[in-house]
Amino acid sequence: MQPGLNQVAAFRRYARAVESTLPYSWYTDPEILRAEQELIFRDAWQYVGHLGQLPQPGTFFAARAGRTPVVVTRARDGELRAFVNVCRHRGFPLAEGEGRRETLQCPYHAWTYGLDGELRAAPRSEEEPEFPRDELGLRPVAAGTWGPFVFVNAGPDPEPLADALGSMPAQVAELGLDVDSLVHYTRWEAELDANWKIVCENFLECYHCQVAHPGFAAVVDVSAESYALTTEGRLSSQRGQLRDRTRFAGELPRAQFHFLWPNLGVNIFPGRPNVSIGPMVPLTPDRTYRFLDYFFGPDVDQAWIDELMAFDMEVGREDRALVEGVYRGVASGALEHGYLMGRSEQLIAHFQQLTRAALDPRIAAR
Ligand code: FES
Ligand SMILES: [Fe+2]
Repeated sequence: MQPGLNQVAAFRRYARAVESTLPYSWYTDPEILRAEQELIFRDAWQYVGHLGQLPQPGTFFAARAGRTPVVVTRARDGELRAFVNVCRHRGFPLAEGEGRRETLQCPYHAWTYGLDGELRAAPRSEEEPEFPRDELGLRPVAAGTWGPFVFVNAGPDPEPLADALGSMPAQVAELGLDVDSLVHYTRWEAELDANWKIVCENFLECYHCQVAHPGFAAVVDVSAESYALTTEGRLSSQRGQLRDRTRFAGELPRAQFHFLWPNLGVNIFPGRPNVSIGPMVPLTPDRTYRFLDYFFGPDVDQAWIDELMAFDMEVGREDRALVEGVYRGVASGALEHGYLMGRSEQLIAHFQQLTRAALDPRIAAR
């Protein structure tokens, strides 16, 4: 039976929706970012740091989970906990950086909390007959780990971290990488003049690699035939074969680049045991904070680390120019949307589907 004209028209509309990017207004509109913060980030597990920052009881580090300031602690009992990093008195941010302390003292009026979150002391509280000390502990949020990687979820009813991570830990283990053995090397940080979704979308395709990353494309085979793209739930994975066997040879035969929606990137290059991991955090519609924690196996020599770092910093510089350029084009308002390549950019389509599905109720209500 021949498809009717209506069916053909419906299919054309569907095909166009698949090929088209998100509306460009979604990359610049502060209302969209507000909706994203609430409907996407509030309930998402966020990578915030690593266990090397909590080497023993009596240590803490401050971080952000999306836009929620958090402090992650290891109290005397050795337990890992996380709290909203805002003083329960009048809202001053409590902890800064990282360190070793038995208590966290607010710089404003010196309310003092244990690393277990309890309010221990509040000057002049004895003058307040009904002072509800027990109710004024730090607001707890969920914390969890995968190997040395620490995640926080500030939502009201978080799913288990293992469910959120999906098959990523299994895929990494299958590659032959033991994440528990990794040692933190350094943190790289940057602010980019681009919407967070553009930074994620740049991570999600290697269609640009041959053109824009000649150094990377010399090491990893980025051809469409060899470079594998898969999605599973919120996880998008890219696998690349090692092209240059003289450089980057080692225990890990392939590259794995994982993206966990909404905003986590995990990079593993071929060669010696290595991981870099970090989120793309929206600050404003036109500005994104990124950090990457680099980890290496305990036996990886400095020369190999130096070479990988130099190589990856070059890729990072190239990507910064790309995402900031895309943002200028998208924000110009000259076009309504872009076009996605069905095969090479399927992971972006997946990212956009998840994003659209999370936002739709709010967008529909506008
Ligand atoms: S705001 Fe923290 S003690 Fe007053
Ligand atoms: Fe890139």
